[in-house]
Amino acid sequence: MRQPIKFLILLVSGLGLLTWGAFLVVQETTRGWVERDLALRARLAANGASSAISAGFRSGKPADLRTVLLDVVRDERILGVSGCAADGRTVATVGIAPAHFGCAEVAPFVFHAGAGSPPMEWLHVEALRGGKVHMSGLPVSDESGFLGFVILVQDMGFAERREAQSRDFLLTAFFLLALCASLVTIVAVRLSWRGWTRQLQRMLKGGEETDEFRPLLRDVRELVDDIMTEREADGEGGAWNADRLRRTLGRNLHGEKIVIVSNREPYIHEHDAEGRIQVRHPASGLVTALEPVMRACSGVWIAHGSGAADRAVVDAHDRVMVPPDEKIYAIRRVWLSEQEEQGYYYGFSNEGLWPLCHVAHTRPVFRSADWNHYREVNQRFADAVCAEAGIEDPIVLIQDYHLALAPRMIRQKLPRATVIGFWHIPWPSAERFGICPFRVELLDGMLGASMLGFHTQAHCNNFMDSVDRYLESRIDRESHAVIQHGRSTLIRPYPISLEWPVRWLEGLPPAPECRRSVLEELGLPPDTLLGVGVDRLDYTKGIEERLLAVERLLELRPEFIGRFVFVQLAAPSRTAIDRYRDLNESVAAIAKRVNVRFGVGAYVPIVLRRAHHEPPVVFRYYRAADVCYVSSLDDGMNLVAKEFVAARDDERGVLVLSQFTGAARELTEALVVNPYDLDEAAGAIAAALSMPDEEQKARLRSMRAFVAEFNIYRWAGRMLRDAGRLRRRDRLSGRLSDRFRAAFREAEA
Ligand code: F6P
Repeated sequence: MRQPIKFLILLVSGLGLLTWGAFLVVQETTRGWVERDLALRARLAANGASSAISAGFRSGKPADLRTVLLDVVRDERILGVSGCAADGRTVATVGIAPAHFGCAEVAPFVFHAGAGSPPMEWLHVEALRGGKVHMSGLPVSDESGFLGFVILVQDMGFAERREAQSRDFLLTAFFLLALCASLVTIVAVRLSWRGWTRQLQRMLKGGEETDEFRPLLRDVRELVDDIMTEREADGEGGAWNADRLRRTLGRNLHGEKIVIVSNREPYIHEHDAEGRIQVRHPASGLVTALEPVMRACSGVWIAHGSGAADRAVVDAHDRVMVPPDEKIYAIRRVWLSEQEEQGYYYGFSNEGLWPLCHVAHTRPVFRSADWNHYREVNQRFADAVCAEAGIEDPIVLIQDYHLALAPRMIRQKLPRATVIGFWHIPWPSAERFGICPFRVELLDGMLGASMLGFHTQAHCNNFMDSVDRYLESRIDRESHAVIQHGRSTLIRPYPISLEWPVRWLEGLPPAPECRRSVLEELGLPPDTLLGVGVDRLDYTKGIEERLLAVERLLELRPEFIGRFVFVQLAAPSRTAIDRYRDLNESVAAIAKRVNVRFGVGAYVPIVLRRAHHEPPVVFRYYRAADVCYVSSLDDGMNLVAKEFVAARDDERGVLVLSQFTGAARELTEALVVNPYDLDEAAGAIAAALSMPDEEQKARLRSMRAFVAEFNIYRWAGRMLRDAGRLRRRDRLSGRLSDRFRAAFREAEA
């Protein structure tokens, strides 16, 4: 309900209650006054006639008393009067006498305390013939003592009339007040609405902003900007693709050079068994997402040269053009010594920050020697950015937790750079983050960026809470920014995605053919029910839980034994770290145990392929599968889930997805499960394997539409548009401060 209507209802109800209360008080008070008034009048009447009444009593003749009483009832408000002897006998009555209150009934009240005590006045109100009467019993005496008493009956009708009048008056007053209040409210609302509208119009036209409207205005502007970006200046609108991203870049950032920085490089050069140089695409969500952006925008990608043949292919500036056959953008390789890689990558990044940010029950390890390497390597990357930038204000996209300190380091050298940081993994709660001994330095390093992106709003909130708790800064929760040393960093959610359509699908045969070839490759019969999992061998991916869920399925639903086969493609990862080696062994042990337990003849329920698989192979498996199970225990987004959806242009297959992935917030038509709940996960796999084609189609169609719409070009477009906006603002404030400085110089001269 709108505010003014609520206010009016409250006001009118308040007035009603007040009026009713006032009426009760007035009624009680006037009734008291009337009764006191009538008692007084009775006393006056009796006193005025007291000598005549006494004479009437003394004469002992009722007729004499009656004559006197006739005189008393001349007063029009006195309806009746009775003369009573002290023993309660009625001597004479004139006018009305209520049946229940004759002389006999009233006498005990007047002479109540028995012999010896003085008689008392008796007052009473009684209903009579539809109205009310006031009765007074008054003792009569002369010098010889008490002779008897008189009962006076007075009309109270006039009091009731007065009460009715005052009630009517109050009701009328209430209605008038309520009417006035409503009118005043309506007028006030209309006036202020008009005022607000005018103010809003003025502000939208560029006038001065008021505090009241600032948040609203910001939302309106963002909305308009979103719509504008969506439609594009050329009026084309429609789906986001590489061309559209290029145009957005040109429009918002005037085609300025983009520098991407990450630890992992998009193309790794290796030697094959024959010593020839080969290109490998790493198993990395970051690379999957950003490579198409770089193809669209070109520029430089600075990354660690980790391939054995990487040095062999770079030029004198450590650059190599990629993709190998197209040469659209440059990779600038940063070389690390073994110790540096150990301390910065394996140590601080993957034994410290990785387990810190993922709720997956592995303790983070923080060593000061690793931290020193981390700092040094971040500086190396920052230096490479400055060397590659070529201009004072480049656009730099810094990727992930390996490079948290680089934004500040770049800012120190290039204060006018637009630095966008994106954190590809979850950001933990402030309490959890607090266990990192280098928390302040990390936060401060990140806040060198102009903008920081996370996959979800929850991660943004966790980040802001961490800043709030551990750093001297101001948090502007309204504009989602952290302000430190007069500079602000925007904190925004940008859920990452895939290129659409995925280029790896181009050369692939249709899904039924992929299925045939995969089953053939695995030596499986054509009616096999096939499940797949695709991951780096990482403990956050829940691979152990996934295989245990397969075991549980075969336990609970033996009809799947011999029919269901689960293939796990597991790319070895970070194998220099003990925890990863343990995981490797544990996964192999589980697969072996399940296979021994449920394998019959040639039937092997779990096929574990621990090797790097190039994207075309992975996509062939996606297309062959009846079900894909993504069971991460904690995951920023998880692009495997989106890849499976993208691969299934036949609209067949079911995605079973962990609720602990960012993707579960977007792919709501997946069967979303808690990977720790093996019964639930097994049930979901069983449901997926028996899901009717129509339902599979409906679910996939909806998820495919979502991924197609919210693809990586849109993700990058939104970030670059926001960066463009920041850049315009910074340039403007830079120009203004230059002008002020010049004005001061002139004034001083
Ligand atoms: O998910 C976090 C992440 O850094 C990704 O960005 C990347 O896909 C993955 O880990 C790869 O890890 P690494 O580079 O250590 O092989």
